[in-house]
Amino acid sequence: MEQNREKLLEIHKLRKYFPVKTGFMKKGYVQAVQDVSLHIFKGETLGIVGESGCGKTTLGRTILRLYEPTSGRIVYNGETIFDSEKKIAEKMLPYCRKIQLIFQDPSASLDPRMTVGEIVGEALDIHKLYSSKADRCSRIAKLLEDVGLNSEHSNRFPHEFSGGQQQRIGIARALAVEPEFIICDEPISALDVSIQSQVINMLEDLQKERGLTYLFIAHDLSVVRHISDRIGVMYLGCLVELAESYELCNAPIHPYTQTLLSAVPLPDPEKNKKRKRILLEGDIPSPLNPPSGCRFHTRCPYAMPICSEKEPEFKEYSPGHFAACHKLDLE
Ligand SMILES: Nc1ncnc2c1ncn2[C@@H]1O[C@H](COP(=O)(O)OP(=O)(O)OP(=O)(O)O)[C@@H](O)[C@H]1O
Ligand SMILES: [Mg+2]
Repeated sequence: MEQNREKLLEIHKLRKYFPVKTGFMKKGYVQAVQDVSLHIFKGETLGIVGESGCGKTTLGRTILRLYEPTSGRIVYNGETIFDSEKKIAEKMLPYCRKIQLIFQDPSASLDPRMTVGEIVGEALDIHKLYSSKADRCSRIAKLLEDVGLNSEHSNRFPHEFSGGQQQRIGIARALAVEPEFIICDEPISALDVSIQSQVINMLEDLQKERGLTYLFIAHDLSVVRHISDRIGVMYLGCLVELAESYELCNAPIHPYTQTLLSAVPLPDPEKNKKRKRILLEGDIPSPLNPPSGCRFHTRCPYAMPICSEKEPEFKEYSPGHFAACHKLDLE
């Protein structure tokens, strides 16, 4: 089945290091994204989960080329837009309309001095997506309605809205340019629990209506598992496992994913009591100086000598189920 589906985005060994000062005259690199390879099919939602600081936002922004990749390859719709080996670095303008970003903190991502109409209209202006002033107005009104607001809201300022409504404005702005692909960077984590599901349902409806493809970032598996077709798990810059959502949640093969899942509460309280929670020892190491070999080895309950020596390869262990772990090669 997988082979027949069209890929919208492919990334190969994508890497992003940030140069930082580590002391007087000393320079180091934050290894935020470490050689991540994955693809996203047209119309699907790929979830990305991992603890704070593991590189999720950096991955999203590097795909968009808001951050210039350190190395690797990005292919969008069959066209190579970045390749460090072949020295290809296409200008992003044609793509930045097709790929949009929805931010974690809606209030910080909306200019407080602009009205809602100006915010949504600005996106239309940049790409000249209307034929007349009246067309521009009606497009803004339609976009606001599409996200559950109304046209009267267009003269108001962002601070007059609740967090959930502000996120709807951010979504309207993203939709204004008729994108194909939306990177949703923790779009609901700053919202009240009661409105989180409303925003999720709206994103799902918009996806169906418009055939959108999503990269959906969250640090919590319980949010991502419902909305995603497939899920990738990141640890300290590396993608450690990727599989269909059901499989990843029910038969995870990487020790780190198993730990993450043991922390997600089960609906049945009796089962919850009986279940063993796997607790990781120690803190996440710094991406400035990550552990050698497998980056997870310092906290992995199954670590073997090879784990500190050699970086495990990200491989397909069963159809569509990828992971990077030396233990799996022994099984
Ligand atoms: N512009 C930057 N310069 C230097 N280091 C950075 C920069 N942006 C991110 N980092 C570092 O890169 C690492 C990954 O950060 P990133 O924001 O991508 O993580 P994240 O998974 O999105 O975390 P969160 O869940 O908290 O949003 C962190 O150690 C962070 O401090
Ligand atoms: Mg982030």
